[in-house]
Amino acid sequence: MNNHVSPSHLTGREQTVEERMAGVNDTTRSALVSTMLTPRFYTTDFEEMDKIDVEPVRAEWDVLIAQMKSDPNRGHFKRNEDWDDIDINALPDDLREEFTDFLVSSLTSEFSGCVLYKEMKRRGTNQEICELFGYMSRDESRHAGFINDALKDFGIGVNMGFLAKAKKYTFFKPKFIYYATYLSEKIGYARYITIFRHLEKHPEQRFHPIFKWFRQWCNDEFSHGEAFSLIIRSDKRLMEGLNKYWIKFFLLAVFATMYVRDHMRPAFHKALGVDIDDYDMRVFRLTSEISRQCFPLVLDLDHPALRDGFRRMERINRKMQAANARGGLAGRLAKSWWTAAATVNFVRMYMIPAKSNAIPATSRLQPVW
Ligand SMILES: [Fe+2]
Ligand SMILES: [Fe+2]
Repeated sequence: MNNHVSPSHLTGREQTVEERMAGVNDTTRSALVSTMLTPRFYTTDFEEMDKIDVEPVRAEWDVLIAQMKSDPNRGHFKRNEDWDDIDINALPDDLREEFTDFLVSSLTSEFSGCVLYKEMKRRGTNQEICELFGYMSRDESRHAGFINDALKDFGIGVNMGFLAKAKKYTFFKPKFIYYATYLSEKIGYARYITIFRHLEKHPEQRFHPIFKWFRQWCNDEFSHGEAFSLIIRSDKRLMEGLNKYWIKFFLLAVFATMYVRDHMRPAFHKALGVDIDDYDMRVFRLTSEISRQCFPLVLDLDHPALRDGFRRMERINRKMQAANARGGLAGRLAKSWWTAAATVNFVRMYMIPAKSNAIPATSRLQPVW
């Protein structure tokens, strides 16, 4: 695997990253951090992706592209009278910190999609693929911009141009991009809609106006997920044989990462009136149900050992953070120990049998949740 490759047009820099780092704010720096848990930027084999043949899923593809072309959310990402200004300094310290972290990590993953999709559109020659990736990067750019406006209100906007140049890029083979991006789009949908539905019932807990925008927003993510589902369904091999093991790996990795990350934001979820365990399990169930459209298996979310595994992963992460904070030789040794413990825990979770799923003949779903 070829890590940390930057697309060529992004690397023509006049100053070194270090020189430019001096001029960026803390929020941009925090968006730059790459760890196991922070959203990544990806690059891939664009030539191979350009060869996708959508003929086997033609009927469903045309319907989806027509819908994306009609651009139902064209006017949605603009502020209107529903936007009420809030003073971030009026929020308690822990909530302010965690909410900012939530915005920055959401922005980073929206923008990561924007950069990857735009690059595919720029490099491709396959018209259908270029058209799709053009629509998706249009949407992600709006999403990232809308979140950044919320950060700018607080005087802590992210310098996105800088981020695109300075962030490390992880290389994933196209098929891994399909699995990972399919899941992140669908889990993004499930997260946004679950928060939106909850706040519909409890408007008093909506401490920031951005949550009001989540309903139409999540429909964009839903369609992006549909597109990746069709790409996966266009090539049967992606749903068979050894690829089943990869699908299981991505399901588990994406769920475990979300579980650990959400538990790092207790004040944020408390302010929303959301029980993190309950919220995460709802999101996993919904994502898992949706993923039956193109994945030949689903995780057994009712298996007690799997639930225990998520909880254990969270405890291990806390120990790892403590080791990090301690620093020095003792800190480094402790960190290696807990990293090994996380790997062992992941393998144990992976060994829990999954449930097999028969892929349906047609797949188009509507966002009815
Ligand atoms: Fe998005
Ligand atoms: Fe998306």
